[in-house]
Amino acid sequence: MTQSTLAALREATGSAHARLDGSLRLARDPSPADVRLHLQAMFSFLEPVEGELWAQPALSHLQPELRARKTRWLRADLERLGALPTPSVPELSVPELPLRAPAGLGVAYVLEGSMLGGRVLARRPALAGLRFFEGYGEDTGRLWRELVVELERATPFSRRIIVDAAVETFGAITEWLEAHGALHERISAEASA
Ligand code: HEM
Repeated sequence: MTQSTLAALREATGSAHARLDGSLRLARDPSPADVRLHLQAMFSFLEPVEGELWAQPALSHLQPELRARKTRWLRADLERLGALPTPSVPELSVPELPLRAPAGLGVAYVLEGSMLGGRVLARRPALAGLRFFEGYGEDTGRLWRELVVELERATPFSRRIIVDAAVETFGAITEWLEAHGALHERISAEASA
């Protein structure tokens, strides 16, 4: 039986996800500085990607106008915390991700998947009221399922490109969060090994 795209994505990125979850300062009793660093790192990672990704014609039926709001939420959260949306290490340049179809779907898998974890994080008192972690609220499940339907439409050829792009995106986001002090330990070398 042919493996589904979702199963292939989970197999290829599951261990990177587990390492990232386990290392985020935000996930374990974060200080206000940890929260700020995380939001600044996420803002600076997403800002150059979000508009171009969700403007892709291949994603136009996935309600891109809803999905392209993350940087707006992050900016509002940082403002509320009295912080600027600038990364803590401004001299680093953001990695270029493959955003065109079909690779863009692999990038979308990682960025949209992170909203599922965000819903778990939103319950932590230190993160209560932050708009970014509320994400899509009641629409979270529906928006995720609609992306999965699109992922499953991929041909075996496209599926390989999507999985490679998702692996690359996990590596890039891990390195970015690490470089900006959002992780407890150094894991990016391990992640790409
Ligand atoms: C930037 C950081 C993160 C990224 C990029 C990320 C990425 C992802 C991805 C791609 C998925 C979809 C997996 C799948 O179903 O195939 C996912 C799901 C999930 N993530 Fe994360 N994640 C992040 C942080 C976290 C954190 C910190 C937690 C835990 C507190 C977490 C908990 C979860 C959970 C529970 C799911 C599954 C939700 C469900 O099935 O309803 N994630 N994440």
